[in-house]
Amino acid sequence: MTVIMDGKKLRDKILEELKIKLANLRLVPKLVVISVGDDPASKIYVNNKKKYAEKIGIEAVILKLPEDVTTDALLDRIDALNRDPAVTAILVQLPLPVHINKLDILSAILPEKDVDGFTPYNSGLLFSGAKPYAYPATPRGILRLLDEYNIELDGKHVVVVGRSNIVGKPLAQMMLNRNATVTVCHSHTKNLAEITKTADILVSAAGGKIIEDNMLKSNCVVIDVGIFRDDNGKLRGDVNFETVSKIASHITPVPGGVGPMTIASLMLNTVDLLENSGKI
Ligand code: GUN
Repeated sequence: MTVIMDGKKLRDKILEELKIKLANLRLVPKLVVISVGDDPASKIYVNNKKKYAEKIGIEAVILKLPEDVTTDALLDRIDALNRDPAVTAILVQLPLPVHINKLDILSAILPEKDVDGFTPYNSGLLFSGAKPYAYPATPRGILRLLDEYNIELDGKHVVVVGRSNIVGKPLAQMMLNRNATVTVCHSHTKNLAEITKTADILVSAAGGKIIEDNMLKSNCVVIDVGIFRDDNGKLRGDVNFETVSKIASHITPVPGGVGPMTIASLMLNTVDLLENSGKI
């Protein structure tokens, strides 16, 4: 019997624990989410982050800035948030408009307030085998979900499809830190199916419906990070759930798998930053 990995249930458990923890803290974390422009998907993500933060007792503010904001103006905003002692966590929602230098913006966030773990300082710590102030939320959520279902990583062949800074790259590093053998595939990979067939654990974070049952071995674990609306308006992932769920040992649904775990991890990160700030 294939196990459907329930990200919603685990999210709710984590949030309930965090809510109790926060009720017993002297200070309330304050998360500021910077949202530039009117990307409709970003709008949904940002509102969701605020909703769940407030549900568990985190103060959350969305700082909306116009599409044509300059890099300098955005840097000034980040500088002010860095200096504000009440602000404990800063998140810049991606993607940013193309005229803005993303690396300059992410680099400006104080590492100890970098709730996404996207600053070069925090990713440098991660890639150096040290502990960053925060781990990127989606990879953290994926590992937490695998742990919840007692899926061992040590010595396993993990194939990650996708090489983004948000998911693929940090996830590969975090899997390496857990002693997995990791292969990272991407849009230029020549023999994708040959490689995915050797996966004990497959993570697809590529975007687009690309993973079919004939690309996988029986009883592998399948984690689907993709999310998009198909022609009928239905939310779907990268994986053909109908066929792959017949051969996998474990699989995440879309929606209800990785997405809720990203939210849970962001909340965990927010609380971790406050706890590690020396303020409590
Ligand atoms: N855009 C898509 N995923 C993420 C994320 O985890 N954090 C931020 N800041 N932007 C995103």
